[in-house]
Amino acid sequence: MTVEEIRSKYLTFFKDRGHTEIVSALLLPQDDPTTLLTGSGMQPLIPYLMGKKHPDGKRLTDSQKCFRAEDIEEVGDNRHTTFFEMLGNWSLGDYFKEEQLPWFFEFLVDELGIDPKNLYVTVFMGDEDNGIPRDDESADIWEKLFESKGVHSKIVNVGSEEDGYKKGMEGGRIFYYDSSKNWWSRKGKPDQMPAGELGGPDSEVFYEFTDVEHDKSFGEHCHPNCDCGRFLEIGNSVFMEYKKNESGEFEKLEQRNVDFGGGLERIAAAANGFGDVFEIDVFKPIIEKIDDLSPGLEIETKRIFADHLRGAAFLIADGVAPSNKEEGYVLRRLLRRVIAYEIQKDIHPDLLSEIPKVIVDKYKSHYKNLDEKEIIEVMEAEKSKFKTAIGRGLRELADYKKITAKEAFYLYETYGLPFELTKEVAPNGIGKDLKIEDFETEFERHKDASKAGAGKKFGGHGLMLDTGELRAADEEELIKVTNLHTATHLLQAALKKVVGDSIEQRGSDITSERTRFDFSFDRKLTEKEIEEVEEIVNEVIEKDLPVSFQEMPVDEAKGSGALFVPHAQYPEKVKVYFVGEDFENAFSKELCGGPHVEHTGVIGKLKIKKQEAVGEGIRRIRAVAEE
Ligand code: ALA
Repeated sequence: MTVEEIRSKYLTFFKDRGHTEIVSALLLPQDDPTTLLTGSGMQPLIPYLMGKKHPDGKRLTDSQKCFRAEDIEEVGDNRHTTFFEMLGNWSLGDYFKEEQLPWFFEFLVDELGIDPKNLYVTVFMGDEDNGIPRDDESADIWEKLFESKGVHSKIVNVGSEEDGYKKGMEGGRIFYYDSSKNWWSRKGKPDQMPAGELGGPDSEVFYEFTDVEHDKSFGEHCHPNCDCGRFLEIGNSVFMEYKKNESGEFEKLEQRNVDFGGGLERIAAAANGFGDVFEIDVFKPIIEKIDDLSPGLEIETKRIFADHLRGAAFLIADGVAPSNKEEGYVLRRLLRRVIAYEIQKDIHPDLLSEIPKVIVDKYKSHYKNLDEKEIIEVMEAEKSKFKTAIGRGLRELADYKKITAKEAFYLYETYGLPFELTKEVAPNGIGKDLKIEDFETEFERHKDASKAGAGKKFGGHGLMLDTGELRAADEEELIKVTNLHTATHLLQAALKKVVGDSIEQRGSDITSERTRFDFSFDRKLTEKEIEEVEEIVNEVIEKDLPVSFQEMPVDEAKGSGALFVPHAQYPEKVKVYFVGEDFENAFSKELCGGPHVEHTGVIGKLKIKKQEAVGEGIRRIRAVAEE
């Protein structure tokens, strides 16, 4: 069964049960300053889980593109990938456990034909300290479901993961674990959650690969949450009904929600009985191509190549460019890891141009924004940059008299020189005592520092439209980015004048080179419309209108006719930037944190370079400011 078939079966299954299909949000979160990349299906839906009315109703389903950078180092085993698709179904204050668990079970067993004897489930054993009760309802529901298929369903009390390794399976089918395993929030366990965060007990489903032997290096006995590879988590039903309040207590939300997420690739592996996710149809041809180009690589290396290049392709398609910051750095790491292998291990140089073709071919019917040419260009450009940088790093290293992990990290950070390479090629064997653990300590230290930095930058103004500001490396770039930021406001105002008020911003991304603006609209703009938009913007620029802002409460701002990003979370007090002599009659008004130009005249001439579709009903415009 292919990924395409399973995705489509799943969406149809939930549509038949009253759900509306929603399109996947982009990997680059558009309205959420707290996260670099979309890592779960619920992330774009947080306002609705908190009670806001969703335009598509209370039952939603989708396949959300997800990227988990924290898993980069895990890739290489039989199941971890950085990029994956998360099948989702949501109840926004509608159905609950009684419907959710039987539906997912039915989907796995009756639709996909998975043998229920291979399924094991976990439920929440409660958290007394936080006053959250044990989830006996879910255990009861599971017991009935398994019994209905004639599968023995003993319930076992495990506790923590460590308890699991001590106790083993104990003949169980349904396992109670504590909040370290059966509680879900974006921030982890109840105690780790900050005030305001949502969470809830969850119930996970695991598929057992009976021919994978338990590996004792993970713990004495195997149990569903063991990481040895025998059990694979394939779906998680989160009963999202709590919010942590300011005094650290857990309050019930106004509505009870279901947030279900199931890894599509893993479900495909289970449905096919493959003990290795990389054997499913979307990975197989990639692995075969790698074998073709460079026979004899280790399986871990092939998995890393396949995962990283697929992840990179999707990041590029969603608008990420390699850089030294934030999501750009994630992409750079993926690509440089592959390229470093390529250089060190003498791997076929066509890898970066051949693999993307296979990836795009596999996915293009569902993900229309995967542009083979663009992906290959970005990858090849990164390769030549990296080679130049590595060359510089190697020359610097040649002068070293001694080297520590700190220097090795500096070489990695500055020139991208991989640790192993530094160790191997440092002059006079001075690198031979370098330890990967020390290098990793440096790495962790840097990661914490850069996380703190990102937090600061985002936290300062609490707004999300300033990606431009974040992308400027120096004063000169900042000026260009600022010009394009104001130009983007003008562009949106002009678009509304030309194609109508119904369009809504879906995202914006500004670098010193160009602005990229995504908006809801269901067709291509005509040449004439593009020209009109340019004309309107350029007229406003020529008039050299002043740009200023007023601060006001968010509700007043939204009521003032100013534009804002729907579904975005704004602080209570916001700035409204306006272009024109006075607020009332301004040409453009937008909730925004800035920065902006003082007068439109400095912007230059706006030129729309490209328009494209980036999802169903979402158009993207790229524009530049010419001198
Ligand atoms: N939000 C849940 C997860 O990411 C479903 O696992």
